[in-house]
Amino acid sequence: MNKFTFSYPTGVYFGEGSAMQAFGAELGEVGETVMLAYGGGSVKKNGVYDEMKALLTQAGKKVVDFSGIMSNPTYTKVQEGAALARERGVDFILAVGGGSVIDCCKVISAQAVLDEDIWNMEYGKGKFPTAGIPMGAVVTASGTGAEMNAGAVITYEEKKWKGPVFGTAASFAVLDPAYTMSVPPMQVLSGAFDTLSHAMETYFGTSDEDNVSDDVALAIMRNTVVNMRHLLKNINDKQARSNLMWDSAMAENGILKCGRLTDFQAHQIEHQLGAYTDCNHGQGLAVIHPVYYRHIVKDAPEKFTRFAKEVFRVDSAEAGVDALEDFIRECGLPTKMSQLKSTVEITPEVLRQVADTCNIIKCNPRELDREEIYQILMECM
Ligand code: NZQ
Ligand code: ZN
Repeated sequence: MNKFTFSYPTGVYFGEGSAMQAFGAELGEVGETVMLAYGGGSVKKNGVYDEMKALLTQAGKKVVDFSGIMSNPTYTKVQEGAALARERGVDFILAVGGGSVIDCCKVISAQAVLDEDIWNMEYGKGKFPTAGIPMGAVVTASGTGAEMNAGAVITYEEKKWKGPVFGTAASFAVLDPAYTMSVPPMQVLSGAFDTLSHAMETYFGTSDEDNVSDDVALAIMRNTVVNMRHLLKNINDKQARSNLMWDSAMAENGILKCGRLTDFQAHQIEHQLGAYTDCNHGQGLAVIHPVYYRHIVKDAPEKFTRFAKEVFRVDSAEAGVDALEDFIRECGLPTKMSQLKSTVEITPEVLRQVADTCNIIKCNPRELDREEIYQILMECM
């Protein structure tokens, strides 16, 4: 095991009806003005918004609405939220949504109490926020695990960059599987693939010794695949959505990363693909993963063989990568760039820009160069 420190800032309330329990326990001490932040309106259709508003009102809070947080949240939206939080004297932020809403709120929280621009501070000076408006997260779509960490992924539209920005971790997270029942099938599976990706990207980092983090990562992968298959039979299987909700949190709450280096090269490529195309995160990963793994399978043969045997019950490293691709097809997720919903036509020129700008991770099984990343992207066409 590598040296590590681990502490947990987020209290988790899991299960049906847990919002009431969470608010009862957590909101007493916070000030009276609460920003209720959400996305494009799903929470208004499924009743979650009304439930949150009623619970906040019962708790004696004054609600400030902040709506329209888009998938792949932008720097502009962060600044809009931070300005509103300052103007209205917000004491607490309640993020109600998927990874995009939660991420946007983490950075709104930090930016609202900073005099300087958070982007310049983090990217220009390498300084990270130490304070923020306290926040809580109510997860309505699982997959990212964003509710249990302080990192956000934000798109700076003008800079054509989608990357990490550190903000405030939620002091509590409500994980009520009932809230996820209205998530459309393709989003459920895309989110679950993101979870699978987080566990794979952690497992395939360069720490090779037999550590417990790898064993837990493999368990999360198996459980995610099993429950995605349950959903393929019955998309309304509440038990499967419930299991996937905890897989999602477990894959990205830091536990799998204890004592080991991580890979996350597929994520770096996908994030930049997202900066240029605004594609869905889980779907972008589904396209990139098998192609990327075919490039590195010979660099970590033992790890890939173990993955093949323990996750997909096939014998060889290469068969494991094939099985992953077959599984992606079985789920109806995309395996080609042309199947992604994109705001621009995905041309070789666009992919060249993605390859030229994405982060390169040093602790993947082999460090890639930009030419190989371009080749990987072109093989996804
Ligand atoms: O905007 P609304 O109307 O709410 O609709 C959303 C959105 O269209 C919909 N949705 C959410 N809950 C719903 C629902 N529809 C019906 N019923 C519900 N209960 O789902 C759509 C997708 O939501 P979004 O939050 O964008 O998806 P996801 O949770 O996959 O988040 C993606 C973002 O998280 C980042 C990604 O890069 C991307 O920007 N990530 C964050 C991470 C983190 N902070 O740890 C890690 C990940 O690797 C990832 O990068
Ligand atoms: Zn992800």
